[in-house]
Amino acid sequence: MFETLQAQPADKILALMAAYKEDPRDTKIDLGVGVYKNAAGVTPIMRAVKTAEKQLWEAETTKSYTGLAGEADFHDAMRGLVLNATVRAECVAAAATPGGTGAIRQGLELIQMASPDATIWLSAPTWPNHPSIIRYLGMKMAEYRYFDADTRGLDFNGMLTDLSSAKPGDVVLLHGCCHNPTGANLTSQQWQEVADLLLSKQLIPFVDIAYQGFGDGLEADAWGVRHLAKTQPEMLIGASCSKNFGVYRDRVGILMAVAQDAAKTALNQKTLAFLNRQNFSFPPDHGARVVTMILSDPVLKADWAAELEEVRAGMLKLRQKLSQQLRFRAKSDRFGFLAEHRGMFSRLGASPEQVEAMRKNHGIYMVGDSRMNIAGLNEASIPVLVDAVIEAGI
Ligand code: LMR
Repeated sequence: MFETLQAQPADKILALMAAYKEDPRDTKIDLGVGVYKNAAGVTPIMRAVKTAEKQLWEAETTKSYTGLAGEADFHDAMRGLVLNATVRAECVAAAATPGGTGAIRQGLELIQMASPDATIWLSAPTWPNHPSIIRYLGMKMAEYRYFDADTRGLDFNGMLTDLSSAKPGDVVLLHGCCHNPTGANLTSQQWQEVADLLLSKQLIPFVDIAYQGFGDGLEADAWGVRHLAKTQPEMLIGASCSKNFGVYRDRVGILMAVAQDAAKTALNQKTLAFLNRQNFSFPPDHGARVVTMILSDPVLKADWAAELEEVRAGMLKLRQKLSQQLRFRAKSDRFGFLAEHRGMFSRLGASPEQVEAMRKNHGIYMVGDSRMNIAGLNEASIPVLVDAVIEAGI
């Protein structure tokens, strides 16, 4: 049997992680995988997470299974974080999943069950695992224009034009904030125009929100997803806690299905639980419990939000410094977009050859499409990157 297996294409982001690990140079700079690092290069455990874990260790009395779709208090806490009070609780079905990727996978499987002919529309570009999972599931997909390679901003007209050609019932995958890999995001005005188009064309949004709190703040980053929840009859949301709670390896995610009434929601809830059962049975609970404890305790929540805000402000400062130094060295405004982008990533706009030259000559690791993780920078490495960018002629 095993001899029939074909080697699968390597995931570019994970392959880069491995290459970075193997590089012996101690001057190397990791701008690859989307993991937050502080100025010392460490991915810290957030204070509120440590405190909640201690409390949990004291108070937990059983490791027996949770509900099949996870626990209701986790659903409530996450619904509050992502949607606030924009939709009635009785209209939101939810299932805890292993990370945000688990939510994307379960959401796609739900679409496949409900609407097998639907095409999934993806932004060009998007997180590479989106098309990879869709292809693996054998679903139809198409791309909509999103990023303007010249301005490194949004190609909003292209986006609207392409989505206008989708057929009723198609699904549009949108990044809730902090677009991965480009860092270019919709304004609230643009979210409204997208919402109007989705409604008029009867398209169903599926929002992937993995960086809430990393862009313009916890509330501002949820503006788009909340606007859609208010205006669309149906939608799916996949949310991740990996980044904003820093609980990457604990695999904390949630899939939410927003419908118009309690009867549809009851069926959605059963379907989500069924999908969990088929794929992995019960979801992991430790991280979800910690997140629930933080979001339900005003003191822990305030401490978490404050630390998250420090992280966000730190990344913004790095963006501004990098943009400023590049503008100065290049004697041009063409790197202004770095300060405009939000979230962990920006697409620099370098060719694969230039990306390779920066890796070879300076030990700078970024994804081949020139996506860089801003959080991988610090005061000392910004000038190294600036030199490399100028040298490569970007
Ligand atoms: C990334 O885009 O680097 C992160 O979301 C990590 C991953 O799983 O790819």
